[in-house]
Amino acid sequence: MYIINIGTLVGVDGEGFLSRRGKDMNKLGLVENAWLHIDNDRFSDWGSMEMLPDIGTEPVVDAKGGFVYPSFCDSHTHIVYAGSREREFIDKINGLSYEEIAKRGGGILNSADLLHSTPEDELYRQSMERVREITAMGTGCVEIKSGYGLTTADELKMLRVIARIAESSPMKVKATFLGAHAVGRAYAGRQSEYVRLVCDEMLPAVAAEGLADFVDVFCDAGFFTVEDTDRILTAASAYGLRPKIHANELAISGGVQIGVKHNAMSVDHLERMGEEEIAILSQSRTVATMLPGASFFLGMPYAPARRAIDSNAIVALASDYNPGSSPSGNMRMVMSLGCIKMKMTPSEAINATTLNGAFAMGESSDYGSIAKGKKANFYITRPMPSTDFYPYAYSTPVIKQVYLNGKAID
Ligand code: NIG
Ligand code: FE
Repeated sequence: MYIINIGTLVGVDGEGFLSRRGKDMNKLGLVENAWLHIDNDRFSDWGSMEMLPDIGTEPVVDAKGGFVYPSFCDSHTHIVYAGSREREFIDKINGLSYEEIAKRGGGILNSADLLHSTPEDELYRQSMERVREITAMGTGCVEIKSGYGLTTADELKMLRVIARIAESSPMKVKATFLGAHAVGRAYAGRQSEYVRLVCDEMLPAVAAEGLADFVDVFCDAGFFTVEDTDRILTAASAYGLRPKIHANELAISGGVQIGVKHNAMSVDHLERMGEEEIAILSQSRTVATMLPGASFFLGMPYAPARRAIDSNAIVALASDYNPGSSPSGNMRMVMSLGCIKMKMTPSEAINATTLNGAFAMGESSDYGSIAKGKKANFYITRPMPSTDFYPYAYSTPVIKQVYLNGKAID
């Protein structure tokens, strides 16, 4: 299939970078007035309309001056959950903090109660609505975490739902086991025993069914300690599960250090960062994944993207789509927040929401840019004045047609 008359083809990569770090994050391949060729489900070639090859009898789509972008790669979500938590939204409006809500037994435990009483099929149905929502907004590769189960049975239920989504959605889906998201209710006051349950019962069960690609721990003030995290990541490494952890959202928690020590794919959140944490990430291949939607929604500081990029880190942006701290999977908004609130350039924000997000999921050889042989996950926009317009006009609908695996999605 040929896409012709593309105003600007964005995110083109002739060299096949697996990630971009530091200064290179500001490099974004662009071809103006372009065509793009897709062979079955993969990109095969592109060029300028002035040198359009003989199309023969292949199907042609006329982009009519619209732009083509590689699909967003959202490397941190919790989109499998039951119900919603707008009651806490009102608590927050009335002055309670995220930590205060959690301490009162709301927050994650509230979602765990709801998930427990929701049958698996219904959980799948509710989650698929969000899957369709983010697909329509341009996401083509997504990581989904467990962590609202907090018992072995309910964590397995969540991970099975993620596996069903992976089977039935045209998006690429990666699964992360987050048993240590909060201490389950039955273990209140017995955190160490809960960590033992995660290590000795949940992890083996998850691994036996092959339900997870990665392991996560909420390593932060009021949640799991560095020692807990060390225990869980050590246990998970025996099953080949690499970490992608929640760190430094509520305090300078030591999460960055313990994540990097365990060769994490990524350390995520990072709203509270000292110089040491930045220096460590700038020397490592662990991705600094920042979640500006959570900062926006909770009124927290934004993670220091500028400092991290200027220090040569690999920065990704993700949505954190979840019912408590970021009830949105809108990656275009995330990209705009990166520019508006974190002073990223539009090119940096595109790389952070596509290629570096894919790298944070171990999927950048197949997703995250328009490169020969990569999966044809992309979308066509309406015509725009420039690539800078896209994060700038942050709520103007521009996506006209999404394609996943080379096929148009309704
Ligand atoms: O990434 N910070 C920890 N976990 C989620 C929030 C989960 C919830 O509140 O339900 C997050 O923000
Ligand atoms: Fe999260």
